[in-house]
Amino acid sequence: MYGEEFEKQVDQIVARYPQPRGALMPALHLAQETHGYVTPAAEAWIADRLGLKAAYVHGVTTFYTMYRTGKTGTYLLQLCTTVSCMLRGCDHVLEHIKQRLGIEEGETTPDGTFTLVTVECLGSCGTAPMMQVNDEYYEDLDIERTDALLDALANGESPKPGPGPLRVIVE
Ligand code: FES
Repeated sequence: MYGEEFEKQVDQIVARYPQPRGALMPALHLAQETHGYVTPAAEAWIADRLGLKAAYVHGVTTFYTMYRTGKTGTYLLQLCTTVSCMLRGCDHVLEHIKQRLGIEEGETTPDGTFTLVTVECLGSCGTAPMMQVNDEYYEDLDIERTDALLDALANGESPKPGPGPLRVIVE
């Protein structure tokens, strides 16, 4: 489907689990990394390879927001809008992003750089409000930090992910 290398890597993932179904989530990740999102063809192929029903695989793909089921911009902005982030001002951040980029939730900027979606809790409530950009978390967002992040991404830079500079992390 995505070539021999992809199929070989899926087989290597499957070999790590006592049951093939255990490989489902990493196989979906691999499909997403390979193609940019999980295509229906990938779901069908993985279902067949793991001996699962296609509807079950599709249910997993669509349940978790970390899986993309359609083409997105270069940067997928997933802003958390669950309680902790809401209490810490994610609504303002969301409105700011929408105005700045000129798009609504679920849309992609005309130049294909940013896609904006809102998601449920990403497990980083202690550093709310936060946003996942592709695979990285950017936390303690305010308007200033959000602008700096979007500026950097638009310039093709890879800003350091994590919490804001004022937060003390005890290791
Ligand atoms: S509520 Fe936003 S990360 Fe948990």
